[in-house]
Amino acid sequence: MKILILAGCIAGCLTAPVFAAQDTSDIAVPEGYRSWFHHHSTLNMQGHEPEGNVGIQHVYANPAAVAGLKAGKFEDGATFVVDRFAYVEGLNSSISQGKLKVVAVMIKDAAKYPGTGGWGFQAFKGGDPNVKAVKDGGTACFSCHIPYQDNDFVITRNAD
Ligand code: HEC
Repeated sequence: MKILILAGCIAGCLTAPVFAAQDTSDIAVPEGYRSWFHHHSTLNMQGHEPEGNVGIQHVYANPAAVAGLKAGKFEDGATFVVDRFAYVEGLNSSISQGKLKVVAVMIKDAAKYPGTGGWGFQAFKGGDPNVKAVKDGGTACFSCHIPYQDNDFVITRNAD
């Protein structure tokens, strides 16, 4: 594990100048992503780190991303979306979905985003298509995805 983290750090450090040159501001919320393949949902409960990621989130994959999950390698155009909602604890030990907190997007374009594993990262606060949160070319996003290089930096795994 230590080796993996170190390897990630070295890769991150060496490619740092490329990060700065990358611009992901033209990435938009993909139209109709909720009708894509819904891969899974995750509940990050209170106490989860980082705190900003607390909520119920759903992971969607477009057809190219579904094909990539099977191959362990993704072609240009493969796209994942995660949308995260607040969660609300209700009566009778129930948990339901609250307000949309963020829509996060990863689009594969190997030539365009060489500094972040060939993936373009963008996130939309509150799901608002006009409020783009990523202004560093995706460096901060990528930092958590670096250890998953064996799956082309995608954390979600093939469910078959
Ligand atoms: C603190 C670590 C962390 C950071 C920072 C992070 N992610 Fe992720 N990301 C994850 C984890 C963990 C998953 C798996 C989520 C699940 O299974 O519900 C994930 C999954 C994803 C996915 C679905 C595809 C996949 O890899 O499984 C997308 C899209 C995504 N993240 C986008 C982003 C964007 C955009 C940013 C920056 C705004 C970002 N991530 C920053 C940890 C992180």
